[in-house]
Amino acid sequence: MNNENLIIFDTTLRDGEQSPGASMDIDEKMQIAYALEELNVDIIEAGFPIASQSDFKAVQEISRNIKGSSICALARALEKDIERAADSLIDAKSPRIHTFIATSPIHMEKKLKMQPSEVIKTAVDAIALAKNFTNDIEFSPEDAGRSDLDFLCDVIESAIDAGANTINIPDTVGYNLPHQFGDLIHKIIKNVSNSNKAIFSVHCHNDFGLAVGNSLSAVLNGARQVECTINGLGERAGNAALEEIVMTVRTRQDIFNCDTRINSKMIMKSSRLVSGITGFPVQPNKAIVGKNAFAHESGIHQDGIIKSRETYEIMRAEDIGLVSNSLVLGKHSGRNAFKQKLIDLNIMPKTSSEFEDLFYKFKDLADKKHEIFDEDLINLSSNLSVTANLINFNYMNVVTESGKKPSALIKLEVDGELLEAESKGDGAVDAAFNAIEEIIQSNCKLILYSVNNITSGTDSQGEVTVRITKDKSTYNGHGADTDIVKASVLALINALNKLKQNPNQDSSKKRGV
Ligand code: KIV
Ligand code: ZN
Repeated sequence: MNNENLIIFDTTLRDGEQSPGASMDIDEKMQIAYALEELNVDIIEAGFPIASQSDFKAVQEISRNIKGSSICALARALEKDIERAADSLIDAKSPRIHTFIATSPIHMEKKLKMQPSEVIKTAVDAIALAKNFTNDIEFSPEDAGRSDLDFLCDVIESAIDAGANTINIPDTVGYNLPHQFGDLIHKIIKNVSNSNKAIFSVHCHNDFGLAVGNSLSAVLNGARQVECTINGLGERAGNAALEEIVMTVRTRQDIFNCDTRINSKMIMKSSRLVSGITGFPVQPNKAIVGKNAFAHESGIHQDGIIKSRETYEIMRAEDIGLVSNSLVLGKHSGRNAFKQKLIDLNIMPKTSSEFEDLFYKFKDLADKKHEIFDEDLINLSSNLSVTANLINFNYMNVVTESGKKPSALIKLEVDGELLEAESKGDGAVDAAFNAIEEIIQSNCKLILYSVNNITSGTDSQGEVTVRITKDKSTYNGHGADTDIVKASVLALINALNKLKQNPNQDSSKKRGV
């Protein structure tokens, strides 16, 4: 292993959450933060505290509970942003403030309406202010990928003089090509006189599908921090995918003279968790974490793999947390086999009561499904329900018949009382949702409904994510079952429980960056 460290800065909870339709509540952010800590991510960018009260609370909560990774909060180069970021980080063991201001001609002229000299002064003042709260300051010249090189070098030199110890170069609009971006990093490090006093980082967007390529080219040219997200989640076409960066660098140690500290065995679990929470399915042919990434269909390939795995595989499925041993679980499997599988998959719960809970869920699933695959278990382990539900599922009877409108009878326990309603709808799920609304009378609006099958086959578990909104607040719900309509009903009940428990959450009220 090479001894230079490549720092992994994960921004799933900040840039990833800015992805349209990916807003998460605090419980969900905490689940992801724990997974990132288990992955051994160096820095977690936990949010943009000035953007909303819920962003502030999420950074605060993550700072209180996560001690294995540094916690970073984003702030524009403005006094109020930096003070808010500092407040949110008070309980963090290793807090970082990340401040930014745009440096490209188009952003300075049209957005900021500032002269270049004002931009430098604003950046320097912001860094000096942030330095009062923590020594760990990251500065980003936003839209660096379209900025004038000489001006960019001036800004960076002043930022380092003011106390920034990480300089992040964002390709904010994903405009660069790999050779060009690598060259930019090389020239910045060469031309900035005090570049030896800072770590250079990159933050690439994926508008041309080049975010990972650009980031890796930057690493080959001296960048030692990469900003990335699980599954490449992020604004527009997303950010560089963490799993792709980590596995490329680790697998091609003949090319890279650095490596990350990431525990790659946790990659699959994190990917499933983020996909389940956001309701953004991972495409089957997605590099590293797609369902087909380690599947071999053609006879020639299968023959080669049987003879020697290396003929068609450049990475081992085990290294990203998939186990390829022959231990297949089913309804007759006992606690020992189940426990061994969880250990192999790196998803063994920390407490015995969590283990028992998971074992119970596994038995329940095994009653409905013949074979339990690794993906089913990863999903079960990351599919945690909210505390003490007010609304609980009791019974459903859904009827669909050609030429007739589907109807659904739903029974729910609401605050201990058994209530029921029957309703029709445009489809089975619609009918079931209408019946639930008749019982709960929430007046919420459904803004996202997403179904993903966890494994292939008609007996596979369907995983449903719903997002509902009421009074400008949004609530996510998740449900999984071998019956898609039941999974949908469970997901809606999950979201409604959050609405009832936390009616004023404001995860949707955001100021954009
Ligand atoms: O894309 C971008 O420029 C950003 C900055 C805030 C680093 O997200
Ligand atoms: Zn970004």
